[in-house]
Amino acid sequence: MKFFIDTANLAQIKEANDLGILDGVTTNPSLMAKEGIQGKDAVMKHYVDICNLVDGDISAEVIATDFDGIVAEGKVLAALHKNIIVKVPMIKDGIKAIKYFTDNGIKTNCTLIFSAGQAILAAKAGATYVSPFLGRIDDMGMDGIDLIQQIRHIYDIQGFQSEILAASIRNPLHIIKCAEVGADVCTCPLDSILGLLKHPLTDIGLAKFLDDAKKFA
Ligand code: G3P
Repeated sequence: MKFFIDTANLAQIKEANDLGILDGVTTNPSLMAKEGIQGKDAVMKHYVDICNLVDGDISAEVIATDFDGIVAEGKVLAALHKNIIVKVPMIKDGIKAIKYFTDNGIKTNCTLIFSAGQAILAAKAGATYVSPFLGRIDDMGMDGIDLIQQIRHIYDIQGFQSEILAASIRNPLHIIKCAEVGADVCTCPLDSILGLLKHPLTDIGLAKFLDDAKKFA
């Protein structure tokens, strides 16, 4: 399973990248706004800064919701860097645009996926990545992991090539469950990635080893 970090915060991206386990970055307009990135030029520069930090797939989201607008914006984003993946919302014109990008060699990430039907359409259009929002499904009192599992099953029996990019990850257990059900990618906040490191028995065990090591140092 690939690990992406889900943030526009450069310090957090660098910290995850320095761990040596990072395969890419996802962003969205909300994450950009959280970092105080304002204006088209600043947003474009920020994407390039991220690409210069991480050698992996970097999702950059379009704002337009009509076919011509999505295609125009996507072309600009794709031209910023070879690693840019154009992130397109799961709407009718978004599907048309994903098909257009697929036919023209531009990689895409279909975002805001909340059902198996949406995941089927995105795969049919040739999306490189399809992003089910796990945490937001959990927020509705349903199980987001069930959706990941259902999409995995459908893609496997149908031979769809899109990669399942589990998004809206909220905790380390989400990451473990995604690995269990066969997500291709997990995009996570830094805290959830670092949470995988933690176990009290590791801390207790290490403290004991270090203490005993003093005896023969
Ligand atoms: O990748 C999508 C993600 O940014 C949404 O996460 O926590 O706002 O549901 P969240």
